[in-house]
Amino acid sequence: MKILAICGSLRKDSFNRLALKAAQSLAPSGVQVEIFDLQGIPLYSQDDEAQTPARVAELKKAIRAADAVLFCTPEYNYSVPGVLKNAIDWASRPYGDSAWKGKPAAVMGASIGALGTARAQYHLRQTLVFLDMPTVNQPEVMIGAAGSKFDKDGNLNDDMAKKLIGQLLAALAELARKSKA
Ligand SMILES: Cc1cc2nc3c(=O)[nH]c(=O)nc-3n(C[C@H](O)[C@H](O)[C@H](O)COP(=O)(O)O)c2cc1C
Repeated sequence: MKILAICGSLRKDSFNRLALKAAQSLAPSGVQVEIFDLQGIPLYSQDDEAQTPARVAELKKAIRAADAVLFCTPEYNYSVPGVLKNAIDWASRPYGDSAWKGKPAAVMGASIGALGTARAQYHLRQTLVFLDMPTVNQPEVMIGAAGSKFDKDGNLNDDMAKKLIGQLLAALAELARKSKA
């Protein structure tokens, strides 16, 4: 079972990327989490759709090769960062050739705010409805006060968050199995 993990931050020391690194070691047996870096995805313009940029083609290929997708997003101004929305938009196009359609998904996120990306995650879930992606509802993984949840080596040191990430991955793998059956 292969889960494609997409980090909504390009920041070098991103808490969300660190959370995905933690997810790689918390995955249930038989489940592999591969992180796709959104670096290099150009800004979307419908004028450029006819010639898909190489990095976008790589993203669409990776989504199609995966059994499921895990989004890990920061919250920017109560919503999803433009970097993530831009990549989602690219992979949904051209019309009729969306790589997302039917792909099982799960959402998690880390922010320095107390609510741990709750508002951004609900915006993202709204987008996933339109993209026709069956999405795990429980557990919700919101890592608030992220600055205090990772040690100096970047390891997640919050037991509750680790437990919830493990449960989220198990639920996503189960959803993917059911979708295939
Ligand atoms: C443009 C911008 C807007 C932000 N808005 C929010 C916000 O609405 N809620 C929040 O909890 N944190 C907000 N933050 C702080 C982020 O939680 C923090 O920068 C976090 O580290 C981003 O995730 P990353 O570490 O994966 O890059 C914002 C940060 C930026 C740069």
